[in-house]
Amino acid sequence: MTFQEAYQKLESYGQLHVLKYYGELTEEERAQLLQQVEETDFSILQYIEHRTSASGTGRISPIRVMELDEMEKRREEFTRIGLDAVRKGRVAAVLLAGGMGTRLGSDDPKCMYDIGITHPVFIMERLVANLMEVVDAAGVFVPFFIMTSDKNHEKTVAFMKEKNYFGYDPSMVWFFKQEMAPAADYSGRVYMEAKNRISTSPNGNGGWFLSMKRAGLIDKVHELGIEWLNTFAVDNVLQRIADPLFVGATIASGCACGAKTVRKAAPDEKVGVICLEDGRPYVVEYYELTPELMETKNENGDPAYNFGVIMNYLFREKDLERIVDEVLPVHIVEKKIAYIDEQGEPVSPPEPNGYKFEQLVLDMVRELDSCQPVEVVRSREFAPIKNKTGIDSVESARLLCAQNGIVL
Ligand code: UTP
Repeated sequence: MTFQEAYQKLESYGQLHVLKYYGELTEEERAQLLQQVEETDFSILQYIEHRTSASGTGRISPIRVMELDEMEKRREEFTRIGLDAVRKGRVAAVLLAGGMGTRLGSDDPKCMYDIGITHPVFIMERLVANLMEVVDAAGVFVPFFIMTSDKNHEKTVAFMKEKNYFGYDPSMVWFFKQEMAPAADYSGRVYMEAKNRISTSPNGNGGWFLSMKRAGLIDKVHELGIEWLNTFAVDNVLQRIADPLFVGATIASGCACGAKTVRKAAPDEKVGVICLEDGRPYVVEYYELTPELMETKNENGDPAYNFGVIMNYLFREKDLERIVDEVLPVHIVEKKIAYIDEQGEPVSPPEPNGYKFEQLVLDMVRELDSCQPVEVVRSREFAPIKNKTGIDSVESARLLCAQNGIVL
């Protein structure tokens, strides 16, 4: 893109300040900036003006969840089906690790965070150990795809190599990068990260399938005969991955996807709740759950909207192909965004100072026609690490690991 073209593009979006330092840049830096302007989708900034909820306005009703007693009764059947699928190489694991983990406050990728007490135990090490349980039970390595972003790719790949993939078979591991989106202040003016670079951040975890496709890895999925993709977050150190019980329950349900859920700890707990919207699977965000819905009871007298998703989903790959071109809603999230000030000095704000734009994996569930939510035992499978201390933190996860006999 030429300077003139960049100027016109930026002018049309009211972002001419991006070129403020152009005169000071070297030829190479100028080329980098022009390329970034060319690649950046500024139209996303319009969502700030239309900051209505990304949710639909349809009729919410409860969804049938396979609860623990049903899972226990059918444990053998589901495990057999799931293990068979894993053995035949039909199930892959997809780690969504492109996030910035700003709440944890480390400069390294979250997967490199050491949660050990007596010896180093990295988050990635725990995830691989969990996956190895299935590998050991099935006698085959599960194909393992890892999504990173421009911000953490090199470090994540180097870390895995340095640690010898924590014992995983490197030939069964593939990395791919997700897309980025510009980050802006509250008025929609994009921040500059450096004189030749617009502040960008990963565009949420909802674009993972498209990014995998762009990286050529869906061809790999077809080549390997993979039918089910188990996506999971980086921060839950207790989660079971490619879990035969869950895989079997989802396959047996005939649904296009399965979602692991936990019973909510309190009616107002801050987790997305799985339900139906106009008859289609839907995750209603905790802040969208009205007090009325919170109090609604089912025929057994239990809360009707009582199961929170833990970001561990199993998707039937061919159904994802069907919805890959659907545009997911854009969520506007208030976050801390690093930038350069008027003097060109870098600033790392202590508090949120603007918006990032994210598409979310939970919105993919809505695009699919059917989803089978499955309850898992909370104390055994849910130890998310979002913060250093307090709720969903390194501290709480350490306690949960100890309760599960994991020595840290
Ligand atoms: P979070 O919602 O915890 O977001 O991600 P985050 O951005 O990593 O953390 P904070 O809010 O800045 O502290 C849930 C999961 O989705 C992944 C994360 O890596 C994590 O596994 N994720 C999030 C992506 O893969 N890409 C993204 O753009 C955002």
